[in-house]
Amino acid sequence: MKAVVYDGPHQVDIRDVEDARLESPRDAIVRITSSAICGSDLHMYDGRTDIGSGAVLGHEPLGVVEEVGDAVELVKKGDRVVMPFNVACGVCYNCVRGFTNACLTVNPKQAGGAYGYAEMGPYKGAQAEYLRVPFADFACLKLPGEPGDAMEDDFVMLADIFPTGYHATELAHVKAGDSVAIFGAGPVGLLAAHSAMLKGASEVYVVDRSPARLKKAEEIGAIPVDFSKGDPVEQILEMRMNNQMIMSEKRPGEEKMPGVTCGIDAVGYQAVDWEHQDKNEPNRVINDLIRLVNPTGHIGVIGVYMPEDPGAEQPQAKQGEFPLWFGELWSKGLTVGTGQTPVKSLQFLLRDLIVSGHAKPGMIVSQDLPLTKAPDAYKEFDKRDGWTKVVLHPGMQA
Ligand SMILES: NC(=O)c1ccc[n+]([C@@H]2O[C@H](COP(=O)([O-])OP(=O)(O)OC[C@H]3O[C@@H](n4cnc5c(N)ncnc54)[C@H](O)[C@@H]3O)[C@@H](O)[C@H]2O)c1
Ligand SMILES: [Zn+2]
Ligand SMILES: [Zn+2]
Repeated sequence: MKAVVYDGPHQVDIRDVEDARLESPRDAIVRITSSAICGSDLHMYDGRTDIGSGAVLGHEPLGVVEEVGDAVELVKKGDRVVMPFNVACGVCYNCVRGFTNACLTVNPKQAGGAYGYAEMGPYKGAQAEYLRVPFADFACLKLPGEPGDAMEDDFVMLADIFPTGYHATELAHVKAGDSVAIFGAGPVGLLAAHSAMLKGASEVYVVDRSPARLKKAEEIGAIPVDFSKGDPVEQILEMRMNNQMIMSEKRPGEEKMPGVTCGIDAVGYQAVDWEHQDKNEPNRVINDLIRLVNPTGHIGVIGVYMPEDPGAEQPQAKQGEFPLWFGELWSKGLTVGTGQTPVKSLQFLLRDLIVSGHAKPGMIVSQDLPLTKAPDAYKEFDKRDGWTKVVLHPGMQA
């Protein structure tokens, strides 16, 4: 079968690899119809996380069941299914409590596994013609419709990015009426904005510097903030201060709450420093959120931070240490939520929002391409500008 193979920093190729095959009676083999490229794949592509050359990439799979093992009961050949990026057993101490992001049985190195990802276990990636799905009864979420229909791009967002955007709003405690600031208008930030809207947030600001991505944010209903024009925190504070509708009905002392209630970091450790825009400053976004979020507010850090980052410029960041303005965070009484998304617990509800027509996460997809175009797709998506989300389709003709 054909697959996207990692050959080292900034090098991916399409090659013939060993066919996916059943390795346990609980496995299924899924023929992939859509497989998205993720901002998390770029950490490996950029050489910041090492997966080793020869690995098959990809963790956002949608497809049709081709074959099932003898112990699989709930899914059968021909079912249209989406799988979470987390590989999870469904029965360990963490899985039964809903934390499938920290499954204890799938990865000898640490809690949590994933397809095609550095440090996340031995699972081959999903940017391929076929995928082996362990624990198929637990992993596969059945979907209505036919491959290639109008919901194909919406459904593939259920593997990671839509639950992840939604989970970011959970980490940041977003509720109806809240004011929200989201840093990063990549796929995660854009779907965090969509999720905040679905929850009824009253104001949603989205910060980035890419004109194309900020335009998408505006289409979703958010207020775009361009950090290439200066301090994004000051820009948001100024917008709120100058908004008579917001400021005219304040109660006594409320001028001490000029920022937002909920802040989301959808950037992670590859954050650009808005003061020196050719530089990476990993703690930039979290510290900006500590400045921006009001006392008693909440910060959700959905962007990835690494326990070790040998490719970092800063000596502390190499060891996974990020200096934070912790005194201010503490004195404001902010809560901070972090970590990988437990996709399974959110997938059912978000699927039903798509099917009912209330959610349209596929709107962030800018490119649908044949699998063979992966090398170009990685190159363009890595620019983090016009290509907001790329979906590869193994069945599509070049
Ligand atoms: N927690 C999880 O389970 C999970 C799942 C998927 C992705 N992620 C992570 O979420 C992050 C975002 O993913 P993505 O696919 O949207 O990635 P992406 O790289 O496409 O998008 C990141 C965006 O952040 C912008 N940015 C850079 N510095 C900024 C700054 N200082 N302020 C505001 N914006 C800034 C970039 O211009 C870019 O548009 C990545 O770290 C990814 O690994 C986490
Ligand atoms: Zn992903
Ligand atoms: Zn488990």
